[in-house]
Amino acid sequence: MRIIAVDNYEEMSIKAAKIIASQIILKPDSILGLATGSTPVGMYKELINMYKNRELDFSNVKTFNLDEYYGLSEENDQSYHYFMRKNLFNYINVKEKNIHIPNGNVADIEAECENYEKVIKESGGIDIQVLGIGGNGHIGFNEPDINFEASTHLVNLTQDTIEANSRFFSSIEEVPTKAISMGIKTIMQSKKILLLANGEGKADAVYGMIKGKISPEVPASILQLHNDVTVIVDKEASSKL
Ligand code: PGA
Repeated sequence: MRIIAVDNYEEMSIKAAKIIASQIILKPDSILGLATGSTPVGMYKELINMYKNRELDFSNVKTFNLDEYYGLSEENDQSYHYFMRKNLFNYINVKEKNIHIPNGNVADIEAECENYEKVIKESGGIDIQVLGIGGNGHIGFNEPDINFEASTHLVNLTQDTIEANSRFFSSIEEVPTKAISMGIKTIMQSKKILLLANGEGKADAVYGMIKGKISPEVPASILQLHNDVTVIVDKEASSKL
């Protein structure tokens, strides 16, 4: 793992955007794995600025998002479809047909999960996967568990995650309790991984990911086995290393 220590959120976002930008410049038809949550928002702003300054072209880029809530329509303002449009896709020239986000609002979830895996494979695989990390060590919505769940699947969100995500909803009762998430194998098959973590709420998870034993109880610890992981951490998130 390559650990890049930075002072603050802004520096983390700029460094991360530069890594994604160089990926796109070197391979204009890159397949990006994208994440939602508060962590990557600053990085998306930087990428939008680079696009506006004509430094980046997304016209041949394909994207695959990590996860989506179960049972929310794409138009729901809490869905990750909505989040991605609001924070990135509406402001860059990525083609609609090249955007992929699991559909959490289908009758046949199993078929949706299988199809998501198939489309990732057919596209040639993810070149670089952006990850945040949950305070409980989750990546995507792969929650602490007794096994690593391999492929895209339906997840029961843990109480920790429901509470953490309730900040975006008007009440905790509105937070979906299930989601579709890429699995650990899906994530590990990405050629490169870029994980961002900021704030003291992530310090224990960052410690477990980098220094802890590899265990499904800290899902991010599996990243120790990937050969091309870059972690960008701010002072608070790295305070326990
Ligand atoms: P956050 O979530 O970016 O909103 O902190 C990260 C995660 O839960 O993976």
